[in-house]
Amino acid sequence: MEFSIKNGNPEKQRNACVVVGVFDHRKLSAAANAIDKAANGYLTGLLRRGDMEGKLGSTLLIHNVPGTLCDRVLLVGCGKEREFREREYRQVVRASVKALDGTGAADAASFIAELPVKRRDLDWRVSQVVEITADEIYRFSHPNCKKAGEAPNLNKLIVNVPQRNNLAPAEVALKRALAVADGVQFARDLGNLPGNICTPTYLAEQAQQLANTYGVKIEVLERADMEVLGMGSLLSVARGSRQPPKFIVMQYSKGKSNQKPVVLIGKGITFDAGGISIKPAAEMDEMKFDMCGAASVLGTMKAVARMELPINLVVIVPTCENLPDGDANKPGDVVTSMSGQTIEVLNTDAEGRLILCDAMTYAERFEPDVVVDIATLTGACVIALGHHASGLFSNDDSLARDLLAAGEAAWDRAWHMPMWEDYQEQLKSNFADMANIGGRAGGSITAACFLSRYAKKFDWGHLDIAGTAWKSGKEKGSTGRPVPLLTQFLISRA
Ligand code: BES
Ligand code: MN
Ligand code: ZN
Repeated sequence: MEFSIKNGNPEKQRNACVVVGVFDHRKLSAAANAIDKAANGYLTGLLRRGDMEGKLGSTLLIHNVPGTLCDRVLLVGCGKEREFREREYRQVVRASVKALDGTGAADAASFIAELPVKRRDLDWRVSQVVEITADEIYRFSHPNCKKAGEAPNLNKLIVNVPQRNNLAPAEVALKRALAVADGVQFARDLGNLPGNICTPTYLAEQAQQLANTYGVKIEVLERADMEVLGMGSLLSVARGSRQPPKFIVMQYSKGKSNQKPVVLIGKGITFDAGGISIKPAAEMDEMKFDMCGAASVLGTMKAVARMELPINLVVIVPTCENLPDGDANKPGDVVTSMSGQTIEVLNTDAEGRLILCDAMTYAERFEPDVVVDIATLTGACVIALGHHASGLFSNDDSLARDLLAAGEAAWDRAWHMPMWEDYQEQLKSNFADMANIGGRAGGSITAACFLSRYAKKFDWGHLDIAGTAWKSGKEKGSTGRPVPLLTQFLISRA
């Protein structure tokens, strides 16, 4: 899919389709109005006959509109003009791509980004068009899974903007959005792959390829290396699997040499059966998505490298499977983490924190400015926040604010959860420094509290993406979240 920025008159576009908005009660947007004028009131006539009201998300495709040079005009309903905000704008963009996808149009000129949205500038509107369009036309394919179908008809989208003299800012926004969309797609592909293909070894290979393409430094630690480092917690999870664990470390250094790096850590459980504390069979297939944290940090690395952001970024992916086995972790086992702290494994299904804690200790060697981990960590987070917001936890309020703001700006939102000291006592163990679970109450919070014990040496943020990383049901598939949030966070710091 090719995108470009242009400032043009809607009636003069020589495209297969021109896309314009219509508000409730048949109120034409500026672009729709221009077409209507050129067409001597053809649109108003159509609307008056009741073919379209302008209801949010509705569409009407018209051919051979007089006075225009395009093959078709797509009217997209925008709802009440006074209520036209981010959500509505995004819905309009999505509806227009869905409708375009169903036509024979190979190229389209969209005037949707010209519609004003409260508190959002043109950059945001352009980015959203690009990211939502890419999201909508994404299809998973792999030679050993679902083979690639026919390519969608639509392969070129011209994003029209009102700034006649200066297209440069919109061009910058477009470039960044393309990089984000690319990172999202990469993350989605990894997430959607089944556990028998996307193993820890596969993730390491993909990271290696990414590193080769963009000239990023990479190191993949093997089991023996992790043993030397004393990563007893991570290795205890990996023991139940025939697949060798990997510990991927990527270093992107386009910032000043004295600038401390941001470290992103992604949970890379390529399949989570729960281990000896085995999960129920229903929907267990979705635990192939338990590496979406890993996918998101790799996707973010890709976006950052494509944009050539002037920052120092370290990406760490601890990755293994969590399966039941004669050698697997057993409830009650006590393991020693790389930090030296001991952990009583009361539930082998709380394995994410067991691999993340060793990665956090490893991160200390980079003397990070901040560390952010991203993990499909707890079902409890889905109960708390549903599928719209990722759970955000931090030991530093200003970092929490920055992450929240990045999510808000990218429309990949998170919600700040409490992590008061009071919750820590739920992790008390009679046999080790801490237990790996804190009971049913506040499950996503006690999981974050567990991780906080490994974040004593840096500012740290934690994103629980259990509810946002993938969709279930008919639209089952990974979302690529929170690549947009993370990329925005890094852009803001650059
Ligand atoms: N990967 C799961 C979390 C998860 C479960 C995400 C369902 C999305 C949907 C994680 O490893 C896990 O199993 N967590 C347990 C923790 C519990 C044993 C304290 C959970 O949430 O049930
Ligand atoms: Mn688990
Ligand atoms: Zn898990």
